[in-house]
Amino acid sequence: MQLRNSSSRYGWISMFLHWGVALAVFGLFALGLWMVGLDYYSTWRKDAPDLHKSIG
Ligand code: HEM
Repeated sequence: MQLRNSSSRYGWISMFLHWGVALAVFGLFALGLWMVGLDYYSTWRKDAPDLHKSIG
């Protein structure tokens, strides 16, 4: 398959961006749900929201 879009189908760059963003959005949703339940003493208490905000 070609790198760039053609008139009949999407290329690798578009597909990579499409699925990369989809993965990030679903990942952020799961990370968000998980991190709000972390207790005060969890080692992820600070890092998870930092990661969530950076990717978001
Ligand atoms: C499509 C999914 C999501 C995206 C793109 C996203 C994106 C973001 C972004 C950009 C921020 C930073 C906002 C700021 O600092 O002004 C943020 C913060 C936050 N998000 Fe999400 N989020 C998503 C889903 C969720 C879900 C499902 C939850 C929890 C149920 C959640 C909980 C939070 C919390 C608690 C913060 C604040 C963290 C802090 O300030 O320490 N997010 N999110």
